[in-house]
Amino acid sequence: MTTVAPAAAVPAVIAHRGASASAPENTLAAFRRAAELGARWVEFDVTLTADGRPVVIHDDTLERTTDGAGRVAETTLAALADLDAGTWFAPDFAGELVPTLEEVLDLLADMGLGANMELKPAPGRDTDTAVVALDVARAMWPAAAPPLLVSSFSRPALRVARDVTPQWPRGLLLGALTDDWRSEAEAADVWAVHADADVIRARDVAEVLDAGYRVMVYTVNDPGRAANLWDWGVHGIFTDRPEVLLPMAGA
Ligand code: G3P
Repeated sequence: MTTVAPAAAVPAVIAHRGASASAPENTLAAFRRAAELGARWVEFDVTLTADGRPVVIHDDTLERTTDGAGRVAETTLAALADLDAGTWFAPDFAGELVPTLEEVLDLLADMGLGANMELKPAPGRDTDTAVVALDVARAMWPAAAPPLLVSSFSRPALRVARDVTPQWPRGLLLGALTDDWRSEAEAADVWAVHADADVIRARDVAEVLDAGYRVMVYTVNDPGRAANLWDWGVHGIFTDRPEVLLPMAGA
């Protein structure tokens, strides 16, 4: 079990990709909006461009959240910088860009927000993505800020995080609990299991808690469901609507 103990610093509500119900996900606007809505923590996704630069975007491809096309991993940073990442959400957000990891960390540090950085490698780039993103984050993230929570579905990426930034807690991302979740959690020495709220059951939460890990769940926008999950003992909930869940958490 990890000796890192950031529990007190990680709140019950984390804005998923920023306040992604009210601004285009994973943009600087979404992170600013999260802070305006009272969120103290945000989650974001990081992957690498064709030229190996860490950028913040969820999908492997550009079509859904930008006016570009193709794979992020086959697009250079310069080409990405020409894309609009806001208009798809609403015209008011025209001109929002796919931010670099540096831009996001700078903004979050300035606003004093905590963060969960999800490592989202393209196939075959697990280790590269983790090394590059963690090197950047390690150089930039203020020592006085809450530790970055580093999560991933990628087991190799989590193991890199264990070795490169042992001072930061890790989250093992799962859908439902897998048969091998314990061995995976031990191998990456994680602090938490991040599970899909749509499939996790009360007995799964109890199993993870009994094993000594925190339980974080994604993505919950319904207050009734959130109340239910907190009753089960879930520590943190990723939500697109922090303004709905924060009052329930007493924040
Ligand atoms: O930890 C939960 C979260 O990382 C899931 O987020 O952005 O991959 O939907 P996302």
